[in-house]
Amino acid sequence: MSRYIVHTFGCQMNAHDSDRMEEVLRAHGWSAADSIEDADLVVLNTCSVREKAEQKLRSEVGKLAPLKSRKNRGLVLAVAGCVAQQEGEKLLARVAHLDLVIGPDNLAELPMLVADQMAGAPPRARTVFDLDAPRFLAAAPEPGAAPVSAFVTTMKGCDERCSFCIVPYTRGPERYRPAAEIIDEVARWVDNGGREVTLLGQTVDSYRDPSLPPPASDDPDESQFPSLLRAIAAGVPGLRRLRYTSPHPRHATASLADAHAEIDILARHVHMPVQSGSDRVLKRMIRRYTRAEYTARVRRLLSTRPDMTISTDIIVGFPGETEQDFQATLDLVRDIGFVGVFGFKYSPRPFTPALKLKDDVSESEKSERLARLFELSEAQTRAHLARLVGTRQVVLVEGPGKTPGTWEGRTERNEIVHVDGRPAEGRALTGELVEVEITQAFKHSLAGLPTTAALSALPKDGGRSRPFRRRRALPLVV
Ligand code: 5AD
Repeated sequence: MSRYIVHTFGCQMNAHDSDRMEEVLRAHGWSAADSIEDADLVVLNTCSVREKAEQKLRSEVGKLAPLKSRKNRGLVLAVAGCVAQQEGEKLLARVAHLDLVIGPDNLAELPMLVADQMAGAPPRARTVFDLDAPRFLAAAPEPGAAPVSAFVTTMKGCDERCSFCIVPYTRGPERYRPAAEIIDEVARWVDNGGREVTLLGQTVDSYRDPSLPPPASDDPDESQFPSLLRAIAAGVPGLRRLRYTSPHPRHATASLADAHAEIDILARHVHMPVQSGSDRVLKRMIRRYTRAEYTARVRRLLSTRPDMTISTDIIVGFPGETEQDFQATLDLVRDIGFVGVFGFKYSPRPFTPALKLKDDVSESEKSERLARLFELSEAQTRAHLARLVGTRQVVLVEGPGKTPGTWEGRTERNEIVHVDGRPAEGRALTGELVEVEITQAFKHSLAGLPTTAALSALPKDGGRSRPFRRRRALPLVV
C-alpha cells in the first residue's frame, strides 16, 4: 500500500485542507506513513502570508532531496497551498526535485496527479480556481471517531483588498458553500461524536446563500452569516458549541450581535482582527473601517453576553507607521481590553498593493514595537485569567492532558483548562461538558477541579474514548 505524509504550514484553512487531502488519499487506498523514510508521497502544504515562504520551502525540499535520490522506487514530492497557487509552474523550474504543484482548489485531483507521477509523467502544476463550479471537499469523519472539536468550511477566497494581504491572490474570489451542505457536515461530525464546530472562512461573516432568509438590509456590510448561524443551531440540535473564525469587522453588524444574544451555543468569544488602532494606518491598509467604527462594533458584540471576550490580530511596522500611530494601537488594545493578541511584523508580499508603499519602518523598530505590544497584551491575558480563579466554568473536555490523570478542554469563551481528573475516579471525560472550579491561572491557561454537581452528572460508564485532536490556535487572514 502506498503511504503519504502531509506536512502543514500556516493557518487553520491549511490544516483543514491537509485533512481533506489525507481523506482523498485514503479513499484512494493510501495510508499514512509512520515516518518520512517510509513515505511514497510527501506533500508540503505551504503558507505565504508572512514569511519568505519560497525560501523556507526551498530549504524544506532541499532536506528531502537526498531521500528522493536514495529511494530507487521514487518518492513523489508535492507542494500544495498558497505558495503553490502563487507560483504555479515557476516553482517546478525553480525548486529542484519537485514533482507536483497543486493549488487549494485542486485538492480532489491529488490521487490522480500522484498516480500519473508514479507512472512516470513529467512534473506538473495544477493551480486552477474553480470559479464556475466551486467545490468544497466534504469532511469524512471516521464513523464514531470524530474529534470533540472540528472545523467546517463555509466559504473560500476573499473579496477584500487589504493592501498588505496576499490571500485574494492565492485563494481567489469569495465563493460560498451552500448552507444545506454546511449543516449536513456539521450534523455528520455530531453524529460521529463531535460536540463543537468552528466555522471556517477567510472572511467568514460575509457569507451568502440565496436559500437562507435575506440580509437584514441592503447595506453591503450586512450578510447572511447571522442566518447561517441560526440555521445551524436549529438544524443540528446535538451541537453543543459553535464558533467561527475569522470575521471581518465590516460585517460585525447589529444582526450579528443579535445572533450572539439569541443563540445559546455560540461561544462567548470572538476573534476580530483589527490590524491597527490608527485611522491613518487603517486607511492605508484599506481596511474599510475606522477605529471608532471597529470599537462600536466590538462593544456591541461584547454587550450581548455578560462575559464575552475579544481577541485580535495586529500588524506592527506597516509602511508609514509612526510612533504616534503605534501608540494609538496600544491605546486601542487597552481600551477594548483584548484578552489575546496575535501580533505580526509587517512583511511585504508579492502582488499586494502595499508593495507600492515604502517598507520604511526598520526591522529593529518593528521588533521593538512587537515586543511592546506583547508586553501589554500578555499582561491583559494574565489579568483576565487571574480574574477567573475561584469562578465556575463549563469546560468542554477535548481529551487527556499531558500529565496522566488530567484532562484538557476549553471554557465557553476559549480559555484552555487543565482539569484534575482524580475526583472523576478514572472515568473518561473526553467529549463531556464538565463544570469546573478554577483553582489556578497560568500564563496562557487555567487549572481546575470538577465540581460535585459535575461529577454526579457524569455518565456511569465513563464517557467515550475518542481520538483527541488539539485545536490549532492560529488565526486566518482577515
Ligand atoms: N505582513 C504581516 N502580517 C500579515 N498578516 C497578513 N498579511 C500580513 C503581512 N503582509 C497578518 C494579519 C492577519 C494574520 C493572519 O496575518 O494580521 O490577520
